Formats: sequence, C-alpha cells, structure tokens
Amino acid sequence: MSDGVRRSQAWFGAAGRSGMIYRSWLRNQGHGPEVFDGRPVIGIASTWSELAPCNAHLNRVAESVKRGVWQAGGFPLEFPVMSAGETLMRPTAMLYRNLLAMQAEELIRANPLDGVVLLSGCDKTTPGLLMGAASVDLPAIMVTGGPMLNGKFRGEDVGSGTHVWKFEEDLKAGRMTQDECFVAEGCMARSNGHCMTMGTASTMACMAEALGMQLPGSATWPAVDARRFEVAQEAGRRIVAMVEEDLRPSAVMTRSAFANAIRANAAIGGSTNAIIHLTAIAGRLGVDLDLDDFDGLARPVPTIVDLMPSGRFLMEDFCYAGGLPVVLRELADAGLIDGDALTVTGRSIGANVASAECWNREVIRSLAEPLQAPGSGTAVLRGNLCPGGAVIKQSAASPSLLTHTGRAVVFDSPEDYHAVCDDPDLDIAAADVIVIRGAGPRGYPGMPEVANVPIPTKLLRAGVTDMVRICDGRMSGTGYGTVVLHVSPEAAVGGPLALVRTGDSVTLDVPARTLTVDLPDDELERRRAGWKPPNPAHASGYGWLYTQHVLQADRGADFDFLVGSRGAAVPRESH
Ligand code: FES
Ligand code: MG
Repeated sequence: MSDGVRRSQAWFGAAGRSGMIYRSWLRNQGHGPEVFDGRPVIGIASTWSELAPCNAHLNRVAESVKRGVWQAGGFPLEFPVMSAGETLMRPTAMLYRNLLAMQAEELIRANPLDGVVLLSGCDKTTPGLLMGAASVDLPAIMVTGGPMLNGKFRGEDVGSGTHVWKFEEDLKAGRMTQDECFVAEGCMARSNGHCMTMGTASTMACMAEALGMQLPGSATWPAVDARRFEVAQEAGRRIVAMVEEDLRPSAVMTRSAFANAIRANAAIGGSTNAIIHLTAIAGRLGVDLDLDDFDGLARPVPTIVDLMPSGRFLMEDFCYAGGLPVVLRELADAGLIDGDALTVTGRSIGANVASAECWNREVIRSLAEPLQAPGSGTAVLRGNLCPGGAVIKQSAASPSLLTHTGRAVVFDSPEDYHAVCDDPDLDIAAADVIVIRGAGPRGYPGMPEVANVPIPTKLLRAGVTDMVRICDGRMSGTGYGTVVLHVSPEAAVGGPLALVRTGDSVTLDVPARTLTVDLPDDELERRRAGWKPPNPAHASGYGWLYTQHVLQADRGADFDFLVGSRGAAVPRESH
C-alpha cells in the first residue's frame, strides 16, 4: 500500500467504464459487490498440474489458503502459473524454471493483487515462484505442497530418486528383475507430494522456511497430512495481515536470510541444486551472494539431519522428529544463524523456533554429535579445470575418492557415455575419472541432472560402487556418488572442460578445494586455438531465447535480462 490506497483499488475502485469492466466480469463467479470494498486482494499463484505429479494436489491446498484469506477479511483469487515437473519434462525441467519465474512475475504484476500466496512443490517450482515474486516485491508467502509419505517396499523404507539409482544398479548387476522393479516403483510413490528424500524439492521447501518465506514447520508436513492444510489456511490468514503491514519479500530475503539458508542447507545435508536456485533468487533481490559464500558460510556447520541420500531416514521421519524448526533452533542457539532475521510471521526466525523440541535424536542429531563433521558438506572447487567454480556434495561421495588422481575418460555428451557404458570391452578402470561435458546451461541446453551417470556395467559387476565423475551439468538432489558438478564455465562456451582429452591426468582434491588437469597453460592455449563452439541447439523459439540469455551456473543460470527487481507498478490502463 502506498499513500494509503491499496494497489487493487486502482482497478476495483475506479469509476466509469474501466471500473465497471474490472468488477463486472469478476462478478460472473458469484462474488457480491462487497469484495471490491478495498479489502486486500490476494492472489494464489498455483503450480498445480497433473503433469507435475508432485504438485497434483495443490488445487486442494489452494482451497485451504482461500478459507484462511476469507477468514481474515481478504478476497482470494487463485491463478495458474506454469508448472515444471521434474520427472516428465524433456529435455529437463530446469530449462523452464526461468520461464516459470517470468510468468509468475508478469501475472502478479499485471493483475489487481495486493499480496500473493505461492504454491509450489516439485524442484523448480519453489525457486521459480520465489524468483518471480522477488522481482515484483509485493507481500508474498510460500506454501510448499509437502513430501510424499515414506516409500515402503518389502518392509523397508525406500526413498524417491535415491532408490531409483539403487534399483537400476541392482537391475544391471542382476540382483533385481524388471518385474520386481515394476512393483518397487509403485511402492516408492504412494501418496500425493514431492520427493520425500532430502532431494531438491525437500531442500528448497526447507530453504523457503529458512529464508523466512514460509511459516515455521511448513516444509515438512506430509502432503496428505491434515496439518499441511491447516498450515495453508494459516498462510491465507497471514498474507492478509502481511498486506496491512506491507511486509515484502525484500524485507525478508536479506543477505542475512540467505546466510541462514546456506547454513541450514549444510545442516540438513541438502541438495547441490540449492546453490543455483538461491543464487538466482538473490540476484532478483540485488543481494550480493557468490559461490564462495556457499563454501565459506557452510564450513562451520555439521550435517545433523540423517536423511537420504546422505543418510538413512525420510521426510516423514524428519517431520515427526520436529522438522526444520529444531534444526534452526540448534543453529540459532549455537550462534550459527542470525536469529534476528525477519520472517513472514512478522517475527524473527529465532523467535519462531525458540520453543522447537526434538522428538527423535536419531533423525535430527545435536550439533555435538552430528552425522557429518563441520566442513564435510557441499564444497566449492576452483582450479584450471573450473575457473568459474564447481561443486561437490561430500556427504554423498565416497571419502576415499575425495582426494584422487586418475586418467580422464572423456565424453562429449551424456548420450555418448550411455551408448557405451554397458560395453564389456569399454576401455575404463575403476581409478579413471569419467568426464561428461555438453550438459551445461547453454550446451544441453538447460543444465539437466545427468552428472551422476551410472558406473560402467563391467565395473559394477566387478563390485565397483563409485568413481569420480566430472560434469558441467547438475545432479538430482536425490543422487549420490563422488560427482563434481556445475563446472563453470561450461564446455559449450569454451570452458577448460572443453579442452580435456581422454588420457589427461585429472586431480580432485576436495580438502584443498581444487579440481585440476595436469596440463601446462600453453598446452591448454594450444588446444583452445583449435576449439570450435558447438552449433547452437535452437535457431528460434524459447530454446533460442534460453541459449542467448542464460547465465552460467555460478550466476544461478537465470536469464541476464531477468536479474533484479522491477517492482509492481503498472501505470497504464487496459481499456
Ligand atoms: Fe518432483 Fe522429485 S520429482 S520433487
Ligand atoms: Mg531434481
């Protein structure tokens, strides 16, 4: 609200023809004239879609939000924002995160809204909505859809994604049949909700809570739990008050909030994708955050949540143990997060979690007895193979491979690797380093989750369970292995990864935070002189826009023209 007049009144309070048009057509949904009396108009931006299975229940979550908005005296209007489901979209949902963000931004700005509730779930939908909302900066609160119930197969917990990789290895190694896999896949996804491992969706839900953008405890209630719907209703009430208070994303998502989120991510053993998404969200707000912050800020923080893929349990267990508020309280008590950071509750994050209690110390450890020691989370690497940086999730890697020198075996695309990885005569040994390039933001395009390629079948059968893999793409938050990701600059723009050849010696030294190829600079320069950029993947359409404007991984892979905030003002009439 500026100068005391609510934004939506520029539409609904107008006299004459314009006001008539704005009000009359909305009344076809049975609203009486009282909804235009100046009460807060609340948009509910929903990424519901049956094509995004993780978000397929968000229409029901929206009903709960609406109930809360009405209760608090607001006027709710639900609208669809492009959804991006991780599992079905080709070539990768990541290609569409920025489009989702752009759509959210434009729809929020173009419509008569005073505040917005953001409904997300699957990986890209949470950062996409936060990016869009940040660039408009109207009061906003997020409600994530919640995780699926724990998968159960043959009496054991199975985790989304994480067990897909395991089942595939078992299938290839002859420990499972295809028919058994059919049964297992049904047992893994047995309720509404997003992946219930600490994959990217759960991570980003926790990041939204740690940033202060969703209500305490929201990240972990299962999608089918009545408390999920209660929290959604509470968010509906709260956004109406936030409009009165003029509490905006820019006041919540400060540098302090991002630092808190980075430390929370280390404590939960969260996804490497959080690095890219948080960087992109920060870019929208003008918050200064670079790759080295993710290493430096995370270093003093141990991992205390024992969830797959780094640990044993799943989101349902995390929820029943007390959820993210317990983790945030541990961190706040130890001075590891800024407890004064403001949240959508109108209170500080420290106040929000002050009474959080842990109900299961196996699932959420204490800082004194952590799952992984401080500094063993996601590390940022530098070196002549990744001058713009690269990342590795140490907790999902094999400790013995964190310092390793090996012969590079290079593939120009993930497809090139898949074409030969089952070949019993493939010239590869366990100590070799698999390099997969052409999977970066511009090269693929869209920076897919392909970096954790399977171990060559002949080595799997010989009992090899992990190898060093290096890629300019991403890895699913549910994935594991000694995998170096997000190598920047990517091969497609001429990064050094483009110059490596099979037979070169590559050294990974995670304790020293380096990734290097044993070649003198002049040899790299000689190779660069003979390097030709790949042909563009798209000559027109959205793919063309994407490849022209996407930033490298270390800048969050946002579009260059979307960085920053553009505010909510729309001075001109439509009629
Ligand atoms: Fe949607 Fe994992 S596939 S959250
Ligand atoms: Mg994913």
